[in-house]
Amino acid sequence: MSKTILITGGAGFIGSHVVRLFVNKYPDYKIVNLDKLTYAGNLENLSDIDNKENYQFVKGDITDSKFVESVFQKYQFDGVIHLAAESHVDRSILNPMEFINTNIIGTVNLLNATRNIWKENTKDKLFYNISTDEVYGALGSEGFFTEETRYDPKSPYSASKASADHLVRAYFNTYKLPVVISNCSNNYGPNQFPEKLIPLAVNNIKNNKPLPIYGKGENIRDWLYVEDHAKAIDLIFHKGKLGNTYNIGGNNEWTNIDLIHKLCEIMDDRLNKPSGTSAKLITFVKDRAGHDLRYAIDSSKLQKELGWKHSVNFEKRFEQTVDWYLNSQKWLDNINSGEYEKYYEKQYVKR
Ligand code: NAD
Ligand code: TYD
Repeated sequence: MSKTILITGGAGFIGSHVVRLFVNKYPDYKIVNLDKLTYAGNLENLSDIDNKENYQFVKGDITDSKFVESVFQKYQFDGVIHLAAESHVDRSILNPMEFINTNIIGTVNLLNATRNIWKENTKDKLFYNISTDEVYGALGSEGFFTEETRYDPKSPYSASKASADHLVRAYFNTYKLPVVISNCSNNYGPNQFPEKLIPLAVNNIKNNKPLPIYGKGENIRDWLYVEDHAKAIDLIFHKGKLGNTYNIGGNNEWTNIDLIHKLCEIMDDRLNKPSGTSAKLITFVKDRAGHDLRYAIDSSKLQKELGWKHSVNFEKRFEQTVDWYLNSQKWLDNINSGEYEKYYEKQYVKR
């Protein structure tokens, strides 16, 4: 094996696509997936690659510094791609402490363990922190987030991710730890936990349940296909400049209400229902506290410097995504656990 790479959070939505890409594309890398398997982690996401020789799963919690140290001592990683996080804004509003612990303390534990094994010997080593565009705050109707946009996080989730980014940069500056950071816009695609907008809407239409749209549905998100994100991570991991930040985005802005109408049309077609049937489920509910109006990413640095491109055909990717959820009933059934039902009740039924 030429390199041993740690991927944290590899059983989650984006992490599972990154693990799959690296395991299949780099047979000479050993890929270690460290994941706590919280409600959002699901090893079924990786059932197609879990018997590959260059793949190893380790169950554990990044907030446990002794455990993290022991894993680093055992595997002596050459690179770290850090995705493990509490990732849902609504949950961060209900319970910020889990976000502080995992997203901040967990990241520092990984940084410390990395420093301890690499010491001064950092040639060809890299700690890559996967972050979000939400650290930049919210845009009005114009402009884009660039790598120079001032951090202005507005939710406990985005504030915890911003803190982690600051600490990663502090370790670069203070200890010369070789780091890189990328900040990505909203991802869509297979395997996303159904608390997030798109899989939640597919699941609810299938079950003839109301489609909760916060406020007036006018908030705007820039949607990127998850495999495009995974490819960008591969590129940045191998070619990114140390200490740099790269923004990753889909150049694909939708208001929530327009996106949901589009999804409703696809669902009517797939379920053989008259046009307009699914849209009748749209229900405007109380807005999210501090709801960021608009996110939009300028990814020209990544395109110009590293030659990255996102897939152009959003329509096709979006339909494929909806079809994946429709064809993955067993995956959805396994996820609709007691924990998720309790969360759903607190978030939507008792509001
Ligand atoms: P996810 O919630 O689907 O998965 C997170 C994974 O981390 C899960 O497998 C979970 O079990 C694991 N995890 C959580 N706490 C842990 C802990 N204490 N120790 C070890 N593992 C733990 O999240 P996602 O949507 O795949 O996001 C992955 C990363 O990408 C996150 O860092 C997130 O901030 C970032 N990101 C996500 C998006 C998006 O649209 N989903 C956009 C930009 C950036
Ligand atoms: P989400 O998928 O939670 O991602 P994020 O908050 O990280 O952007 O939400 C996407 C958008 O959809 C966001 O503007 C909030 C909105 N939304 C709803 O209107 N209803 C819902 O039930 C959910 C989960 C989100």
